[in-house]
Amino acid sequence: MANVAIIGAQWGDEGKGKVVDWLASRADIVVRFQGGHNAGHTLVVGNQTYKLSLLPSGVVRGKLGVIGNGVVLDPNALLEEIARVKTQGLEVGPHNLRIAENVPLILPVHPAIDKAREAARGKSAIGTTGRGIGPAYEDKVARRAIRLCDLAEPETLSHKLDELLLHHNTLLRGLGAETFEKATLLDGLLALAPKLLPFAEAVWERLDTARQEGRRVLFEGAQAVMLDVDHGTYPYVTSSNTVAGNAAAGAGVSPHAIGTILGIAKAYTTRVGAGPFPTELFDDTGKLLGQRGHEFGTVTGRPRRCGWFDACLVRQAVKVGGVGGLVLTKLDVLDGLPELKICTGYSIHGETFRRLPAAAAAQAAATPIYETMEGWSGSTRGARSWAELPAQAIKYVRRIEELVEAPVTLLSTSPERDDTITVSDPFAG
Ligand code: IMP
Repeated sequence: MANVAIIGAQWGDEGKGKVVDWLASRADIVVRFQGGHNAGHTLVVGNQTYKLSLLPSGVVRGKLGVIGNGVVLDPNALLEEIARVKTQGLEVGPHNLRIAENVPLILPVHPAIDKAREAARGKSAIGTTGRGIGPAYEDKVARRAIRLCDLAEPETLSHKLDELLLHHNTLLRGLGAETFEKATLLDGLLALAPKLLPFAEAVWERLDTARQEGRRVLFEGAQAVMLDVDHGTYPYVTSSNTVAGNAAAGAGVSPHAIGTILGIAKAYTTRVGAGPFPTELFDDTGKLLGQRGHEFGTVTGRPRRCGWFDACLVRQAVKVGGVGGLVLTKLDVLDGLPELKICTGYSIHGETFRRLPAAAAAQAAATPIYETMEGWSGSTRGARSWAELPAQAIKYVRRIEELVEAPVTLLSTSPERDDTITVSDPFAG
């Protein structure tokens, strides 16, 4: 049975919520494999609006959710999210959520470091979500992370915290921020242990069984390729690999198990936080895209920066992310614009590029080379077939396919789940 992985192909916030929900309804298991509660999306199911950050979307559809080892897990954020969805009538427990026993935990010290460091960076701040994602990943690779399974071994926790605090308190002191007491952290973790341990298991084993039983798995990416710690606009990136290849390492499955890889992109471009954004618009069109697209961050509420579709960037995301099909969203936001621009390359210090170079200075200097297309006067909103789209809108989509070198698999034409044009069934393999 084919599996599907879905990843963002721009800088995040591509409208994954609706599409992931649509895909989740066709899957048996939904797996998060990277990121943490820096992610956020909104699912509208019936008369309920769920704002999910850590929970795999499938739980809303009665599917099994799995949080893989590639995630960094803030236990308090998870328990708060579980309590919040409970007030909406959704019961989350070990029956519908399993968490990798080897997932690293975000402790209160991590957001403290994240925020203190951002403050110290001043003008060159990354614009992180301040949730401790970066510092938690740093602890993982530095081999000092507290992992979920450690909560079952209180006698070694104390020793691990000594090592962790030696590092972090030194840093916090240097940054002029408040330090942490071991006893407070230890008590906190011991109190969390009985609430979290029932969710813990070797999820790789469950996923292996699922594979043998022919179950359909959806790997739900968070953030996007241009925020990937290796392939993104470094250092203005998140701290995990957001490409689909990381679904294998971040959940403990074979790379062959990832299946169809979908990349999701808006019909224009947005970004939150700092960093290069060659097609950013500072004029009325940029404002219009922001207003029509309701471009405010789900997690932080920050207004998103808006600009034209950057085909050069998405093509790069398609290549490094292994994307086989594109999910294009928010086409309706462009309805009625007399003229549209698509970026096909960059001019950097007089030289032409068909990719965004890795060096931050070159990225910052990149000016877009545009191709201009006529807009359309009709509406694309709510279209459920190609026949319902204005001819010029189809031309725009076809041109995007050519430029990014990937076919459009799904086209989303409104926030409603059924307002989607399905070109091919991603689970068909
Ligand atoms: P961090 O992941 O909190 O360390 O933030 C690093 C960068 O990634 C910042 O520019 C954030 O705005 C961005 N970022 C993190 N998560 C998301 C997301 O879910 N959508 C869009 N941007 C994100």
